[in-house]
Amino acid sequence: MENTTHKLLIIVGSVREGRFGPVVGSWVAEQARTHGGFEVDVVDLADIELPLALPAAPPKFAGAGYPRPAGMAALTSALEEADAFVVVTPEYNHSYPASLKAAIDWHFTQWTAKPVAFVSYGGAAGGRHAVLHLENVLSELHAVTVRDGLAFPNYFTAWQDGEPLDTEAPGYAKALLDQLAWWSATLRAGREAAPYPG
Ligand SMILES: Cc1cc2nc3c(=O)[nH]c(=O)nc-3n(C[C@H](O)[C@H](O)[C@H](O)COP(=O)(O)O)c2cc1C
Repeated sequence: MENTTHKLLIIVGSVREGRFGPVVGSWVAEQARTHGGFEVDVVDLADIELPLALPAAPPKFAGAGYPRPAGMAALTSALEEADAFVVVTPEYNHSYPASLKAAIDWHFTQWTAKPVAFVSYGGAAGGRHAVLHLENVLSELHAVTVRDGLAFPNYFTAWQDGEPLDTEAPGYAKALLDQLAWWSATLRAGREAAPYPG
């Protein structure tokens, strides 16, 4: 029987001591489970071994034998199995955290021809600069970034008890997840119909 379940991987990108990221990640996971269009999994990069020193060869053509650390296996298989991603990112110095860059750079084909949506948070800009940089980077891996995002400026006053105070936020999350589900179905059908030429 055809497998119609789409796997959504939510990636919590910050690993900083005392970070806010898991609060946002849990809320996004709750929105995605309520949405109902996906089987939802969450990976927290703080649980993953993510060295900055890469092997000599880039991962693009290396296949399954790419020498990743044992502590990265859970991330690699979650990326591999996912049909769609939500990246939860803060903003550090007008970009996204080094942990996310490492997670991206250790992989390549796991992202190819799959959709990625963003939920960001930070100071006044709400992580806008981080998302712009991620869109640029992920296009190199042939990922497809989703137009609608969710940004939480000044999250320190905009959230209470694990929820955004903005009552419109669940509606914005639904719009993002609707677009992500559309892309997930469309791109998976494309991947199944023919190998992606890239
Ligand atoms: C090194 C560093 C740089 C930061 N730079 C920015 C920034 O450029 N813009 C911004 O809006 N917030 C900035 N912030 C504030 C973070 O967005 C805020 O601390 C947020 O909580 C970080 O996410 P986290 O708690 O999950 O690590 C910065 C924080 C750190 C630690």
